[in-house]
Amino acid sequence: MIEKKRLGVLVSGSGTNLQALLDACAAPDFPARVAVVVSNVPAAFALERARRAEVAAEVLEHKAFVDRAAFDTALVSRLRAHQVEIVCLAGFMRLLGSAFLDAFPGRILNIHPTLLPAFPGLHGPRQSLAHGVKIAGCTVHFVDAGLDSGPIIVQAAVPVLPGDDEDRLAARILEEEHRIYPLAVRWLCEGRISVHQRTARIDAEPVVEGHALRNPGRPR
Ligand code: GRF
Repeated sequence: MIEKKRLGVLVSGSGTNLQALLDACAAPDFPARVAVVVSNVPAAFALERARRAEVAAEVLEHKAFVDRAAFDTALVSRLRAHQVEIVCLAGFMRLLGSAFLDAFPGRILNIHPTLLPAFPGLHGPRQSLAHGVKIAGCTVHFVDAGLDSGPIIVQAAVPVLPGDDEDRLAARILEEEHRIYPLAVRWLCEGRISVHQRTARIDAEPVVEGHALRNPGRPR
């Protein structure tokens, strides 16, 4: 039996990325398990996904705290209570301050629905469409004190197709999010990621080698 690292997943919404992590963790050879899911939104469907997977699901409403530092401190103690080693933000709609970042140095990941550093912040697919990009995508990165600005671990690209609206593009990106988030978690658990200044180096085979993604005009 391999040793499984304990993940804490922070959510605010539907939790499809949480589901991808839960599904990956179900494999015996995946080096992590979800120890707890914490939501700042009581009605988040992600909580239901956690319960269905028989994972501890907790609500911590940011509104109940006087300021961000107090919320962050409470969040850290909930995660510590479950011996969390790695934190995954999965559609968690709060910024985290130093009280939180310092508690899990180099061990907080986020998934973002653009090819960072393009379009940080909210509504990534909408921003990508408004800018007319031809290639969109998603990024898993370490979390630092900035907005979606930490070292990039893995990215996936998808084409923007004629007739795309925000929902269609977001769905195409989301499919890739579900592939790359478990990959990044696996690499972190296996000690395959080292960070040099702001570059994360990955000791793993490239998933695609020698190909360029061109759009429009992809090779047939
Ligand atoms: C995803 O698009 C993710 O990139 C962003 O928030 C969304 C969360 O979706 N950070 P879900 O709750 O995982 O379905």
